[in-house]
Amino acid sequence: MNVSDFEFIAKLLKDRSGLALTKDKAYLLESRLNPVARKWNFAGIDELIQALRTGKDEKLTVDVVEAMTTNESFFFRDQRPFEQFRTIVLPYLLEHRAAQKSFRVWSAACSSGQEPYTLAMILKEEAAKLAGWRVEILATDLSSEILDKAREGLYSQFEVQRGLPVSLLVKYFKQVGDRWQISDELRSMVQYRPFNLLDNPASLGRFDVIFCRNVLIYFDPPTKAKVLDNIAQQMAPDGFLYLGGAETVIGTTDRFEPMPGQRGIYTLTKANAAAKVKAAG
Ligand SMILES: C[S@@+](CC[C@H](N)C(=O)[O-])C[C@H]1O[C@@H](n2cnc3c(N)ncnc32)[C@H](O)[C@@H]1O
Repeated sequence: MNVSDFEFIAKLLKDRSGLALTKDKAYLLESRLNPVARKWNFAGIDELIQALRTGKDEKLTVDVVEAMTTNESFFFRDQRPFEQFRTIVLPYLLEHRAAQKSFRVWSAACSSGQEPYTLAMILKEEAAKLAGWRVEILATDLSSEILDKAREGLYSQFEVQRGLPVSLLVKYFKQVGDRWQISDELRSMVQYRPFNLLDNPASLGRFDVIFCRNVLIYFDPPTKAKVLDNIAQQMAPDGFLYLGGAETVIGTTDRFEPMPGQRGIYTLTKANAAAKVKAAG
């Protein structure tokens, strides 16, 4: 691929998804875009890029952007964040949201659904404490294709073997051929919606807990800062933000600070939380 084509596609991906494609990752273009070129009956990637340059077919652009996203996810990913959710965040919300008996969780960049369904399973396991509560889980992703898979809730043997305890597999999934489908009850606990993290999330409303894990790693520092600022706008003053193990707010934004002793969880900095309380009157 020539330099001009690389620069064109790198800019397109950055503008559309935030993905920062550095030259050392050029090999990814070959492996991810060859299948798209075949699907669209182009002779190869060069021809695909020429068609993209015309900007005539939005569906082609969407296919290319979606092909370049990394969708890897698994149930109870890294375990600890979900253990913290059960033992620290949930008890906090049960106490501090007792008056309204409701809270909202956002799984931003939810991929194929393992993250929001893990949260749904934890909430279901704690159902006795949540009797009479209204808990909303909103799960969003840039890719409509991956959201279709999430809604379907159908996973391969390999996918359910990664992180999901057998007891929960037996309890919440049914076997369909050689795959496993999550129960309708759990599926109905999660609402899926397309959403690009580069956009303003104001219309999504306010959240008590936000999982934004393993997506900021693909963005450059200014994009990370912008996304975190947007997220801060949507978070309750005493809300909790989860990032992935390789992600942090340090050096990127002063809106959030790490929660002492709880790796991976972030809260609004005092000044930001106070400003929100003031703004709410
Ligand atoms: C590696 S997965 C992470 C899934 C899950 N959060 C986890 O930790 O297992 C990254 C997801 O981010 C999504 N993504 C990438 N850029 C995005 C953007 N600008 N807005 C929303 N989602 C995006 C991809 O489609 C992909 O599904």
